[in-house]
Amino acid sequence: MESAFAERLIAWQQTHGRHGLPWQVSDPYRVWLSEIMLQQTQVSTVLGYYARFLERFPDVASLAAAPLDDVLALWSGLGYYTRARNLHKAAGMVMSEFGGQFPQERSQIERLPGIGRSTAAAIAAFAFGQREAILDGNVKRVLTRCFGVEGFPGEKKVEQQLWVLAESLLPNQGMTAYTQGMMDLGATVCTRSKPACTVCPMVDRCIAARDGRCAELPARRPK
Ligand code: ADE
Repeated sequence: MESAFAERLIAWQQTHGRHGLPWQVSDPYRVWLSEIMLQQTQVSTVLGYYARFLERFPDVASLAAAPLDDVLALWSGLGYYTRARNLHKAAGMVMSEFGGQFPQERSQIERLPGIGRSTAAAIAAFAFGQREAILDGNVKRVLTRCFGVEGFPGEKKVEQQLWVLAESLLPNQGMTAYTQGMMDLGATVCTRSKPACTVCPMVDRCIAARDGRCAELPARRPK
């Protein structure tokens, strides 16, 4: 629908986005593991855990075959251990229900424990180039500001509106760069406090920047 946004974001990602991260690969297992680790943990912390985890469990079959305690031991220090339990359980499901092949459709990926719609979309986009929108905290911030979306994004009605908007912006090609670009713009430029609007590729079309409302959007949880 609106191709100018995606074209600009993809061009920005290619020159100013994050590159060379170890999970920027097409192996769905590696993409999945990174997205789970990155759900509640920052990139710099994840890097070491990610490398050690893959050394011990290089593929979904080795993870599924391992005792849960071995998985938890490698997760030790990362926190939110439900992530590790779900990861192990999901690996078993990939083996038993999908013949060891990671599912390619977002709807199927979403059925695995520990994977919500946005994480499933990220895996589908990064590993399989599927045209699926992500909507994590960073993306919600970019969209509410750029398009002047009012209301608390944690509210069902607002979130639904953001999903529709996110889907309307998807490019027909370049889903990997586009998806990484959305994450990178939110994480490195359109930050919660003191966003770097002067270097933002969207500044000239951003409602919040135009109206000086970056501090007000996204709206906070109503009291
Ligand atoms: N956070 C969640 N997914 C990420 C990714 N692919 N790259 C960097 N940070 C992320």
